[in-house]
Parts: sequence; structure tokens; C-alpha cells
Amino acid sequence: MSNRVALVTGGTGGIGTAICKALADAGCTVVAGTTRAEKGEAWQAKMKEEGYDMHFAAGDVTDHASCQAMVQAAEAAAGGPIDVLVNNAGITKDGRFVKMSPENWSAVIKTNLDSVYNVTSHVVGGMTERGFGRVINISSVNGEKGQFGQCNYSAAKAGMHGFTMALAQETAAKGVTVNTVSPGYIGTEMVMAIPEKVRESIIATIPVGRLGEPEEIGAAVAYIYSAGFMTGANLSINGGLHMH
Ligand code: CAA
Repeated sequence: MSNRVALVTGGTGGIGTAICKALADAGCTVVAGTTRAEKGEAWQAKMKEEGYDMHFAAGDVTDHASCQAMVQAAEAAAGGPIDVLVNNAGITKDGRFVKMSPENWSAVIKTNLDSVYNVTSHVVGGMTERGFGRVINISSVNGEKGQFGQCNYSAAKAGMHGFTMALAQETAAKGVTVNTVSPGYIGTEMVMAIPEKVRESIIATIPVGRLGEPEEIGAAVAYIYSAGFMTGANLSINGGLHMH
């Protein structure tokens, strides 16, 4: 299954970069979605130094029209239509609900959940017409179990898997699988931004006793890429933090 084109939103971030590399290693032509072209250029140059020939396309995942332009740019850069979409872009705006502003609620819902509609809607029709596609939504353990200080994030991440299960039923007969990956706490900038004391107390509750590695999520995405019989599933990779 080589020569497929993959678009990974938030592709220049910690988990995003590991996903891009894993899909490139699996034979895909990879495009990283990013908010700004300058960021994409710097990332592309770094990837080149590491031996990866990858592309980028800039766009705002909170804006439907911008996503259309991003998808068109991605397809032009890769030289073909998108076969694999990884909805990975996401942010946090943590705080107790009583202190959560409408802005911090909306920013997280728009970036983490509306984005899934905004990008997927531009690629799924082509996938079903061609009879092959993979939509892989990167959710979170906190969408499965809830998290103190994350009403916005937990709601968005739980919503992603609802989307997965519904779209999976609509596209299964057309060769397009839709799945969720729910990472636990992974050693990325997002997790390192949690105050150290709070982070240490969270790590103490993870049965395997450590943060996850971005590559452990990349490997799961590459597996889903290769797995035609898996659809509507939610793959939890959280070091045992939440078992269900
Ligand atoms: N359970 C119960 N009480 C808690 C708590 C918890 N998990 N965390 C904090 N509290 C309590 C504190 O003890 C304190 O109570 P007292 O005032 O009675 O002492 C109170 O909440 C503090 O609340 P404040 O509103 O004053 O806020 P704060 O400045 O201390 O910060 C917070 C609160 C923002 C939620 C902070 O605790 C935090 O950042 N927590 C981590 C949230 C988290 O896990 N985010 C994940 C980010 S990474 C990610 O999202 C990736 C992924 O997918 C896993």
C-alpha cells in the first residue's frame, strides 16, 4: 500500500511530526497541515536534514473555506488527491469550568472539533468515489474519562469519537475507514506546559510510570493505515491511565 497521499493537520507539532514520519516510512507522500507557511518551511527543512522529503500546506482549521484552500494546496504539493487524513490539530485552554470564558470554550471547540468537519468535508467525497480512504482522528484519554480543568477539551475530544462512529457507518461500504486514536499523556510541548507539580502528580497515576513517546502514537496511525477491517474503533494508548 505505497504511494498514498496523507495530510496530517497539526503536522509540525510533537505528535504530528511522529505521525508524518510513520506514514512516510509506510510509503505515503506526506503533507503536514500548519497554521503558517514560515512554520511549514522551517519544519520541512528540518525534516530534510533528518532524511524525510515531506510537504506542508498552510491553513486555519477553524475556517471551512481556509481548509478547502489548504486541501487544494496539499494535493498540488503531493501531486494527487488525499487518501489518508489525520485530524491531529488541537489546542488546550485549561481552567476550571467556573472560570472558563466563552472565548476559551469556543477556541477549543473550534480548533479541536469543528476542524474535523472543516477538513474532512473536503476530502471524504473523493475518497468514497475512488473506493479507498483513511480518516484518523487524534482524540485524547481526556475525551474518554474527562479531566479536571478541561471541560472544553474533554467535550471536543469526546465529540471527535462520536463523529468517527457515525462517519464510519456512512463510508464503510466505500472502502473508507474512520477511526480514533486516544493518546494519554505524551511527552510533547502541550503536556510540558502543564505546571510541573500538577504534571508530576498526573505521571504518578499512570500505571506504566512514564509519559508516552510521540512515536508510540505514530506507530498506531501507521497500523490503522494498513488495517482495512478496522473501522469506527477507538484505540486507547495511555499507559494504563484509563482502562475501559
Ligand atoms: N482534582 C481535584 N481538585 C483539583 C485537581 C484535580 N485533578 N486539580 C486541581 N484541583 C484543585 C486544587 O487543589 C485547588 O483547590 P483548592 O483551591 O481547594 O486548594 C483548585 O483546584 C485550584 O484551582 P484554580 O482554579 O485556582 O486553578 P489552578 O491555577 O490551580 O489550575 C488547572 C487548575 C488549570 C486545572 C491545573 O490544575 C491544571 O493545569 N491541571 C492539569 C489539567 C490537565 O491535565 N491538562 C492536560 C493538558 S495536556 C493534554 O490535554 C493532552 C492530552 O490529551 C492528555
